[in-house]
Amino acid sequence: MSDVMIPEILPMNAEDLAARLGRIVLLVDGDAPSSAVAKRLDRLTRGAIGRAMAGEVWGRVKPGEALELAYPAGLAAEALHLLRLPRRAEVAVARKAGGAIARLCGKDPVLALVEGHPRHGDLILGLLLRAYSFDHYKSGEKKAKGSVTLMVNDVAAAQASYTAANALAQGVFLTRDLVNEPANVLTTTEFSHRLTGLRALGVEVEVLDEAELERLGMRLLLGVGVGSECPSQVVVMRWNGGVAGEAPFALVGKGVCFDTGGISIKPAGGMEEMTMDMGGAGVVAGVMKTLALRGAKANVVGLVGLVENMPDGRAQRPGDIVKSMKGDTVEVINTDAEGRLVLADVLWYAQETFKPKAIINLATLTGAIIVALGSEHAGVFSNNDALCNAFLKAAAAEHEGAWRMPMGQAYDDRLKSRLADMMNVGGRDGGAIVAAQFIKRFIKDDMPWVHLDIAGVTLLKGDTSVAPKGATGWGVLALNRLIADMFETAPAKA
Ligand code: BES
Ligand code: MN
Ligand code: ZN
Repeated sequence: MSDVMIPEILPMNAEDLAARLGRIVLLVDGDAPSSAVAKRLDRLTRGAIGRAMAGEVWGRVKPGEALELAYPAGLAAEALHLLRLPRRAEVAVARKAGGAIARLCGKDPVLALVEGHPRHGDLILGLLLRAYSFDHYKSGEKKAKGSVTLMVNDVAAAQASYTAANALAQGVFLTRDLVNEPANVLTTTEFSHRLTGLRALGVEVEVLDEAELERLGMRLLLGVGVGSECPSQVVVMRWNGGVAGEAPFALVGKGVCFDTGGISIKPAGGMEEMTMDMGGAGVVAGVMKTLALRGAKANVVGLVGLVENMPDGRAQRPGDIVKSMKGDTVEVINTDAEGRLVLADVLWYAQETFKPKAIINLATLTGAIIVALGSEHAGVFSNNDALCNAFLKAAAAEHEGAWRMPMGQAYDDRLKSRLADMMNVGGRDGGAIVAAQFIKRFIKDDMPWVHLDIAGVTLLKGDTSVAPKGATGWGVLALNRLIADMFETAPAKA
């Protein structure tokens, strides 16, 4: 798994900067050195900082980006980086600035002079998130992890910010690790094994095996997994940090550890990406970890349906008719539309068992959502404006793209089957919406529900300001914030 950066946090000390080796990062606001430490470095470099900040190049450096002064006279350091971070920078800019520091890390130690920036918590979070790497299958030269020292005015405040940021980052890292793992390693059983590891943090974890799922009548889920050597499982994670006995908020994730398409097999090109088809389950796991690490005052239950979709002599066929736990029958027209089958049974089980206040499911559900929204926004589908708007607000605050999509009877009509209560597909057009309509059939009428189709945002080909290329961990921060906004008991008055 990923090894994680732990920044050293020290009190501001401008004394020995001249002799300091490695890279020095100076946070600056505006167009002239203004803080005490900036002025001291400017004197040591005989005015180089002031000249740089008055120059034309500095005018093109955006907030959250840095200008490098290499081998500065007067300093022993390799380089001095002027990192533009306005004092009133918004969250995303502060995180980007932290990410810029992470990218400087390598052989040379990095010293970042942060002082008392009002967004130092977001800066630290960006630093941690961008410093993530997943390279333990590379046997050659490993990238040097590097070390970062933050010099701050208030060490206690920075330590507290680090602790808070770390709870978020560790959740995101769990999600990213699960999504990045190949399917020969992250089998259904390995996945549930990693989830039972959350018990050490106080999360209750229960694993339902095939016999139990059969007894519960989850034939839709089991049908997806019958072609695989990996046993299908449902894992239930409970974090009970709220009022005892109060109904929980529920999260449900699609955990298809590999999606070949089954008998409706996918083309070879790009099939290797289907190791990420457990991304919804990965986000649920990450959120549960973050809730536990920060001791969230909320009752949350996270459920994941873990299966592998393989072609085999025993695999489900197109045309098979299968009965759901709810009791409705489904004609499986296309075995590659398997995620909705898994979600249907787990969502029904979640509602029957836990009577949640609200439910949000996540799934890498359709290629159609990628056609519609690309990798900038996840598709958001809902039957409840209040819950949906609260989620959209939380996602916007965390800069995780999310865009609401329409639903309606005409899309639902496309699921009508000649032989059974419904089909599992309804043609290509509007495919992400038709998939959402299928899921909605397994949501009780009065249950506030949001479905997040995360097929486009789970795994990226390029890096971002806060993530190297690969698994993003999209959704962990937004859902954590939504839970804080909507489901946490108000802190006791002092
Ligand atoms: N896991 C895929 C969706 C997917 C595609 C996720 C690309 C990430 C990237 C899903 O199980 C699937 O195969 N969906 C089909 C549905 C179709 C058969 C109605 C699709 O989108 O093609
Ligand atoms: Mn599929
Ligand atoms: Zn799938």
